[in-house]
Amino acid sequence: MVDLMGLDRAASIEDLRLKAKSRIPRFAFDLVDGGAENERNLRRNSEAFEEVEMTPRYMVDVSDIDTRASVFGQTFDVPFGMAPIGMLNAFWPGADLTLARLCKAQNIPYTASSAASTTLEKLAEAADGNGWFQLYVSSDPDVTESLISRAEAAGYTTLIVTADVPAAGKRDRDIRNQLAVPFRFTPEVVLQCAMNPRWALTSLKHGSPNVANYADLLQSATSYADVQKTLITAGFTWEDLKRLRNRWKGKLLVKGILHEKDAVACAELGCDGIVVSNHGGRQVAFGPPTIEALPAIAKAVAGRMTIILDSGIRRGADVLRAKALGADFTFAGRALAYGVGAGSDAGAKRAFDILQLELVRALGQLGIPSYAEVGPSELSASNRTGS
Ligand code: FNR
Repeated sequence: MVDLMGLDRAASIEDLRLKAKSRIPRFAFDLVDGGAENERNLRRNSEAFEEVEMTPRYMVDVSDIDTRASVFGQTFDVPFGMAPIGMLNAFWPGADLTLARLCKAQNIPYTASSAASTTLEKLAEAADGNGWFQLYVSSDPDVTESLISRAEAAGYTTLIVTADVPAAGKRDRDIRNQLAVPFRFTPEVVLQCAMNPRWALTSLKHGSPNVANYADLLQSATSYADVQKTLITAGFTWEDLKRLRNRWKGKLLVKGILHEKDAVACAELGCDGIVVSNHGGRQVAFGPPTIEALPAIAKAVAGRMTIILDSGIRRGADVLRAKALGADFTFAGRALAYGVGAGSDAGAKRAFDILQLELVRALGQLGIPSYAEVGPSELSASNRTGS
């Protein structure tokens, strides 16, 4: 097929990010690209991955590379899935469905966010057996229960409860951009839209994005601020998690774990897994990068639960670094989102291909024919003593 958008020339996720930046209004690009406060944590996520060295071994037959990984009884073709991202259609119209379909086509998990701009039912249909559901515990127990029963009815069997939002993250870029949902058409926003006509026209066609799972709430609330107050709660405790564990019959994971004591508490409570995550550096600027938090967590968990890691995955080798330090599986958030921003369906596929091909190449270079075999012995001597 002719590559009219020049996607084949994107060599890396960073190239796709820059391409997305060139065709999306700044306020919408920053919504996804930005992090908390001065973005220290966002930067550290990537830097910390780069600091983890793995040492290649040669003269091993790597003509057949197996990237498959099994999680909760399901075998996926590559060991990364799509992290939950709220309001992603604001970044590129139709992004939610594009990614859900991509995940099904490539046989990887797709996590539908509570705050997605497409309903969980439509996303379950598009992900067709590869969908997981991420739950934000609401300040209103009826709202939480309604999301859970809808997720059950839609056929999701894996629930990811996000724990790292006792408060909304303070994102300085969004404040500077005076970001509002639904969009407020200030002269600046209109100008940014005019400079990105393709985004503007596609957005016009799709209509203003919103938190689609909360349609009832949106109708009855007097302001969007009211809706936002209901989406998350500062009052979510271990007691609530225990109730959720009893309520949800399928697999249950807790997302946003950074402390080994919290990880152990999740295991003791009967959770099936955790997502070691700092929300992609969007919650706190002062926190640790996940790849640095991982070794102590993996040691404390000692195989009792599945460990998924996200925040900062930009290269195929990052997936292997996470495995070497104790993760079973990974999520990519922005990496796949940048692809959609760079070129809709074809861009999402390009982002997937970049990560997947880098992963295969890195396994070959490490002299390891299968992802399942990657472990601490791949780490360079300095990283082994450091961990
Ligand atoms: C997120 N993330 C997120 N997490 C979650 O549990 N529910 C959500 O609705 C959202 N929404 C969301 C929006 C945007 C714009 C971003 C960038 C992220 C966090 C997400 O699931 C994941 O933890 C990070 O994206 C991982 O970091 P990387 O891969 O983006 O660096």
